[in-house]
Amino acid sequence: MTDLAAAHVLVLGATGGLGGAIARRLVASGARVSLSGRDETRLQALADELGAAVVTTAVADLTRPDGPASVVRVAADAAPLTGVVNAAGVVAFGAVEDLDDDTLDEVLLLDLVAPIRLARAALGVIPEGGFLAQVSAVVAEKAMPGMAAYSAAKAGLTAFDAALATELRRRRIRVLDVRPPHTETGLATRPVAGEAPRLPQGRDPESVAERVVRALADDERDLPSAAFTA
Ligand SMILES: NC(=O)c1ccc[n+]([C@@H]2O[C@H](COP(=O)([O-])OP(=O)(O)OC[C@H]3O[C@@H](n4cnc5c(N)ncnc54)[C@H](OP(=O)(O)O)[C@@H]3O)[C@@H](O)[C@H]2O)c1
Repeated sequence: MTDLAAAHVLVLGATGGLGGAIARRLVASGARVSLSGRDETRLQALADELGAAVVTTAVADLTRPDGPASVVRVAADAAPLTGVVNAAGVVAFGAVEDLDDDTLDEVLLLDLVAPIRLARAALGVIPEGGFLAQVSAVVAEKAMPGMAAYSAAKAGLTAFDAALATELRRRRIRVLDVRPPHTETGLATRPVAGEAPRLPQGRDPESVAERVVRALADDERDLPSAAFTA
């Protein structure tokens, strides 16, 4: 078991639907959190809401090469970290023949390259017994037409997490790859390109966040999409 009441957890993508819900759930479990997002106003609003449980905040664009490492540095300098949860991400829709370079760059940079850079930076500060949780997606298990770049980025992230988890086993640092099904955060309504197809009703962000935080507390090692169906 991980004692979240004694933990300091850095949450990236805290301004988002899932990241915000995870941050609130961590605080409700007694954890202290450091929060990162791109939008300074919404980040400060969440920090004000969570009050004294917030160690520090860091505004960053994670597509920049130094973005992930700068966020880790700010949080770790403020207080020793127990773990990191990365819930930043974007989605793009459309046929591959319509996929332009800017869209491809943004999806791959934020959904695949940034989490790898984040892991590299976080390994230096996560202690034995600590964790790195990366929010991938169900499309890593079943690629979706009309979401090829997003599917490829998430499948790449899930593969990276599996390899890293094995590398870190001896150091007793847990890598938790989280692959939620469609969730009603509004992500699909603000794609970086294209338009979402008609989607079935998604999961409630609160229940997804509850499942993620329970997995962190219970030292689970994988969170496939099937873990969210119960
Ligand atoms: N919602 C779903 O159906 C679903 C399903 C499976 C997996 N996921 C994954 O869950 C994660 C969270 O998604 P969500 O549903 O919570 O979406 P969301 O509400 O749109 O949140 C996305 C988060 O990513 C941040 N972000 C976007 N571009 C960024 C950049 N360049 N630099 C730094 N941060 C950036 C946003 O920051 P700002 O708002 O501050 O710009 C926000 O905090 C994503 O990785 C997504 O792929 C979502």
